[in-house]
Amino acid sequence: MAEGKKLLRTLAGEVQDVPPIWMMRQAGRYLPEYRATREKAGDFLSLCYNPELAAEVTLQPIRRYGFDAAILFADILLVPQALGADLWFVTGEGPRLSTLTTQAEFDALKPASDVHETLSPIYETVSILSRDLPKDVTLIGFAGAPWTVATYMIAGRGTKDQGPAHALMEENRPLFEMLLGRITEATIEYLSRQIEAGAEVVKIFDSWAGSLKGADFDRYAVEPAQIITAALKARHPGIPVIGFPREAGEGYVGFAKATGVDCVALDNSVSPDWAARHVQVDGCVQGNLASSHMVTGGQALVDETRAIVEAFRNGPHVFNLGHGITPDADPANVQLMIDTVRGA
Ligand code: CP3
Repeated sequence: MAEGKKLLRTLAGEVQDVPPIWMMRQAGRYLPEYRATREKAGDFLSLCYNPELAAEVTLQPIRRYGFDAAILFADILLVPQALGADLWFVTGEGPRLSTLTTQAEFDALKPASDVHETLSPIYETVSILSRDLPKDVTLIGFAGAPWTVATYMIAGRGTKDQGPAHALMEENRPLFEMLLGRITEATIEYLSRQIEAGAEVVKIFDSWAGSLKGADFDRYAVEPAQIITAALKARHPGIPVIGFPREAGEGYVGFAKATGVDCVALDNSVSPDWAARHVQVDGCVQGNLASSHMVTGGQALVDETRAIVEAFRNGPHVFNLGHGITPDADPANVQLMIDTVRGA
């Protein structure tokens, strides 16, 4: 067997008999040990900014399941907070932020170089993990993509159709583009420090990429991902980047070539067979089991898991869900998925 960690070898283009596996939101509320640690921290944001406890919840799913990768425990909305936005979480509802729709509100943001003041505990979490993770487990850092982060900053909350962000784009494109530019710079700073602290891969989450159509997808999903990827690779030669333009559909085709990412993460709205032919032809893909199987389990989980492994077996593939695991998932179904992938 070749040298090195399985996930890193796969991102470099090596085809495996058994794909490496990890899971979006693998540290989360479906695990009783996560809920206990969050309780200890007080609330979600306190947990994010507590390096010892954030490292602890990152390690929990590694201990329980033996995944091939650990993803830093943090949140994409810490970057807006570090730029000066107010951020809080309403239990059972999700994030709330101060809104940003005017030039004056943009002018009040901090420069990108100032984000480290707020984000330094996150780099400490990465350092702890880099020291404490088992030697064969890869450490993944992450940030939100500029468009997705902007949708929350503009609306002040999650929205179904990203209406307020699309409205600002139409009404004041220069302001919208300045905001995307500031988030892009801050993201490069943030991910760069994560890499210096020990992140071996970084992932860019563009959860709302699917609502960008045509030229807007190229300008606001592809271009920022390309800028961030190029800047990180210039500063940290060889650092692998995973891009996740969720629900991009046809936009997945050519995304790796256009942005320079090493791997494209797929949501489960695209079929594995289609993605193997149209996306994996350009390199590594990640995905894409529907997270609902983690709730329902059974033979359907096994069949769908096998079909995904089979569809992607002739190229580099990282097994994952198509989106984050949900709080109502059964931890036993996660084990069933892993056993199925590994042929146990
Ligand atoms: O994947 C992981 O295990 C790493 C940690 C991680 C979290 N959020 C922890 C979290 C990651 C990678 C994220 C990314 C994130 N955060 C995204 C992009 C990926 C996606 O899911 O589309 C987005 C859009 C956010 C913003 C966010 N954070 C929302 C909308 C919510 C509320 C929804 C929810 O699930 O409650 C969060 C909260 C959040 N982030 C939780 C976790 C574990 C749940 C908070 C809790 O413990 O109460």
